[in-house]
Amino acid sequence: MTVAFTFDLKATDGKARSGVISTPRGEIRTPAFMPVGTAATVKAMMPDSVAATGADIILGNTYHLMLRPTAERIDRLGGLHRFMNWQGPILTDSGGFQVMSLAELRKLTEEGVTFKSHIDGSRHTLTPERSMEIQRLLGSDIVMCFDECPALPATDAEVARAMRLSMRWAERSKAAFGDRPGHALFGIMQGGVTRELREESAEALKAIGFDGYAVGGLAVGEGQEAMFDVLDYAPDCLPVDKPRYLMGVGKPDDIVGAVARGIDMMDCVLPTRSGRTGQVFTRRGVVNIKNARHADDPRPLDEQCTCPACRNYSRAYLHHVFRAQEIIASMLLTWHNLHYYQELMAGMRAAIAEGRFADWQEAFHAQRAQGDI
Ligand code: GUN
Ligand code: ZN
Repeated sequence: MTVAFTFDLKATDGKARSGVISTPRGEIRTPAFMPVGTAATVKAMMPDSVAATGADIILGNTYHLMLRPTAERIDRLGGLHRFMNWQGPILTDSGGFQVMSLAELRKLTEEGVTFKSHIDGSRHTLTPERSMEIQRLLGSDIVMCFDECPALPATDAEVARAMRLSMRWAERSKAAFGDRPGHALFGIMQGGVTRELREESAEALKAIGFDGYAVGGLAVGEGQEAMFDVLDYAPDCLPVDKPRYLMGVGKPDDIVGAVARGIDMMDCVLPTRSGRTGQVFTRRGVVNIKNARHADDPRPLDEQCTCPACRNYSRAYLHHVFRAQEIIASMLLTWHNLHYYQELMAGMRAAIAEGRFADWQEAFHAQRAQGDI
């Protein structure tokens, strides 16, 4: 028997929501943060360790995997879950966004986009149909529509054109996705920071009908205030009974602000990438482990954190291995950052369930205002 893909909204507190997405690969507690596993690995982490931080789902990328090692090869090897040894749910992005930020010599038409690989210069084409095929070959549990996220700054006319093209591609994505019980297809809202365009996009997506709805085209340089302005109305344009996913966000305070505005899912490279560059997220703000002030500090990064980096190592050790470019520095700092992000989500889920989200949010900001120890 195949288990259906369902979303059970369990509690709301103001606009904040908490619930459970059920998939045949397991449950996803929302609000959920999805670690990024672009190239079939969450960098510097073993899959069991990713799960140990509290992650229910990870993200993979059509663009990177189609180029290397190719979707067909992953399919022959039993699919992405088996290939990378992650047995939980996987959401895959559709490729268009990464083409626009990474590929060279891009050519966009009604049909799709052709581009040169950033790895070896080879030519490739992505269309809504091909993106759906690749995500099916990967075995993705949550498939994203193929869309165009315009590069900023862009004129209103350009943002409108990209949004309307994305809505036609959303229709083609839905048709190509077909009927796949247990697998979900999410639409992606575009429209920049223009309310009329966002509303038009939401109406177009709802008319097609999806298992979940993403807010795309944000965190592309508009700043937190402009992003929150959009999030003040955009989630309300989407169905109450489906998950809402804010793509590519963000810093801890972005995530908290997004959840407060009705977002259920997020992903970002920040905790993993920052782990490799020595930027550490703590309850009291960001710490740069490279800083000389840590060199003799026997204390843990955060004495309340239960991750291996904080339970077993001093700031002095983490500073040393980071400066010495030892691989364990990336491993420990990434683990800590992912653990911090998942604790943040767990804290919000509990607060929403217990109707004390506003107090939780206040305490979150008060602690950060204190600064590092
Ligand atoms: N990742 C971050 N933003 C976007 C977006 O607008 N579209 C897609 N497909 N992926 C994203
Ligand atoms: Zn820690």
